[in-house]
Amino acid sequence: MLDLTQINQNNLPKHIAVIMDGNGRWAKERGKLRVFGHENGVKAVRKTVENCARLNIKYLTLYAFSTENWKRPQIEVQTLMRLLVSSLRKELKTLEKNNIRLNAIGNLDALPSKAAKELKEVIEKTATNKGMVLTLALSYGSRNELVSAVKNLAIKVKNNLISPTDIDDNLINEHLYTHDMPDVDLLIRTSGEHRISNFLLWQIAYAELYFIDVFWPDFSEKHLVEAIISYQKRERRFGKTSEQLS
Ligand code: IPE
Ligand code: IPE
Ligand code: MG
Repeated sequence: MLDLTQINQNNLPKHIAVIMDGNGRWAKERGKLRVFGHENGVKAVRKTVENCARLNIKYLTLYAFSTENWKRPQIEVQTLMRLLVSSLRKELKTLEKNNIRLNAIGNLDALPSKAAKELKEVIEKTATNKGMVLTLALSYGSRNELVSAVKNLAIKVKNNLISPTDIDDNLINEHLYTHDMPDVDLLIRTSGEHRISNFLLWQIAYAELYFIDVFWPDFSEKHLVEAIISYQKRERRFGKTSEQLS
């Protein structure tokens, strides 16, 4: 068991977002097909969800499939969608046990109907849970999200529902998939890549970034705790000087 006393309960990131990367390379290292990596990635998802709930994190957002991931070979896309359906089915119990509410962001209309149906069911079944909010980013792209927000705002201006001068940070926020969530405090990316890959560009404006050189299937409680401890050592100044904060 890890020493969780190192974590300061008064300075927890309210919203953790994770770019779960490296399943393919994890499998390749073992001489296996990419699908083997994705299957093992699912196990890391379960552990991370349970650990975040136990550590009292309020919002956990997982990047599971990007708008760009549709460009992968069809067989891999199908495998990922199949894994999504089977894990939603299997993990409902885990969500209920931990009082977790499931949420999803992204262009969900693009998902195969079976996956969309399963997702909707689990979201409905967990809708009254009051614990952590687990958001799956599926067929998600931040530019897509911003484009659709801009379109909706333009329509409202055209129909005289709002005036251009009403447009501010809050109004833009209200038109994003994440309108009912706080900004990201801590963004973790596994696999050693140092990039954002079109994830939550608006919402990470002031997030603390944490890149770890471990492939997603190997991401464990130890790594999660280390990421939170690193977050807690940082001074979030939001443009102010250090002196102003104390
Ligand atoms: C992350 O692992 C899972 C998804 C993007 C769906 P990858 O499949 O990107 O694995 P690598 O980065 O190729 O190793
Ligand atoms: C980002 O990983 C998307 C997800 C983790 C779902 P990718 O593996 O698709 O990112 P790039 O293409 O290497 O930037
Ligand atoms: Mg990748």
